[in-house]
Amino acid sequence: MSKVYVFTDYGGPENQQLIDRPAPMPGPGEVAIEVRAAGVNPADWKIREGHLGRHWSLPAPMGREAAGVVTQVGDGVEDFAVGDEVLGLVAPGQGGMAEHTLLRASTTVAKPEEISFTDAATIPVAAATAYDATHQIELEPGQTLLLLGAGGGVGLMAAQIGRVHAFTVIGVASATKRELVESTGAVFIESGPGVSDRVRQTIPDGPDLIVDLVGGDPLRAVAGLVHDRTRIISAADPETAVELGGRALERTSEAMGKITDVIQYGLVDPHVRAQFDLNETGQAIAAVETGHAAGKITVIPQD
Ligand SMILES: NC(=O)c1ccc[n+]([C@@H]2O[C@H](COP(=O)([O-])OP(=O)(O)OC[C@H]3O[C@@H](n4cnc5c(N)ncnc54)[C@H](OP(=O)(O)O)[C@@H]3O)[C@@H](O)[C@H]2O)c1
Repeated sequence: MSKVYVFTDYGGPENQQLIDRPAPMPGPGEVAIEVRAAGVNPADWKIREGHLGRHWSLPAPMGREAAGVVTQVGDGVEDFAVGDEVLGLVAPGQGGMAEHTLLRASTTVAKPEEISFTDAATIPVAAATAYDATHQIELEPGQTLLLLGAGGGVGLMAAQIGRVHAFTVIGVASATKRELVESTGAVFIESGPGVSDRVRQTIPDGPDLIVDLVGGDPLRAVAGLVHDRTRIISAADPETAVELGGRALERTSEAMGKITDVIQYGLVDPHVRAQFDLNETGQAIAAVETGHAAGKITVIPQD
């Protein structure tokens, strides 16, 4: 038998539990892995709450991104073999917070030796999102990127990608994250009341691009700072972004491979700040569900 963390009904965390089931067998185009680490994302609790639809069959395995070692490959898989170290998005109906899971070969890449399993597990969702958010609208070196939610999993990586491109990065986050945000090379600005005045004092001409990782009122508070509202991209709250004249983040298939290379060369650190055992997955999800996580949180199955 193999352990997997699931939710048994839509709603709160009381519906979560670790269960045993037979290790899943790969279908066509899938690879089975022994999980070494899984990333925790806001999507995990949003799916459980039913915010992203109710089409998951129950009990629904949790966790969208994972890294591990291939144990079996399905029909038609040519790029991976048993024993390969990989990272990828979990297959539909599967979860990364598990001892064993399935990845879609089309959204799996080889894990470079230089990247730990823990860091690798943050790449398929969080790092790839940071890559897409900083490439959807191309800035020139020296132009200004404002990151709303700069201290979270996606934000810290987006800030570092901005530094690689020589953008001026303004990172908006709460006071407790000042050092963390500044460690990326970004200029820190405290979130909360008065944030737009603080940004104006720092960059009177306003940013050339806003990447939103928070949404709602915090996004409304800074939206007027950018001259051209089409230069607002939101990963967190596309509806509010569109209402304000901006647009939703568009995800691309090449982001995962590209950002894996960047992390391999040590240019971006995923900033995994907390690791939990699979038995403690509920605590890991709760830490992200506060909405105030610092960097990334991962879940590690026991040996
Ligand atoms: N569309 C996609 O494909 C996609 C993929 C990944 C993520 N996302 C979404 O993108 C968002 C960010 O994801 P994540 O993984 O980075 O989440 P995260 O790790 O939970 O980080 C969220 C950050 O938002 C900050 N925050 C909360 N309220 C704020 C405010 N008023 N002003 C400034 N910062 C504030 C929090 O820090 P403070 O303590 O500083 O407030 C926290 O660091 C989530 O909504 C997630 O669902 C979308």
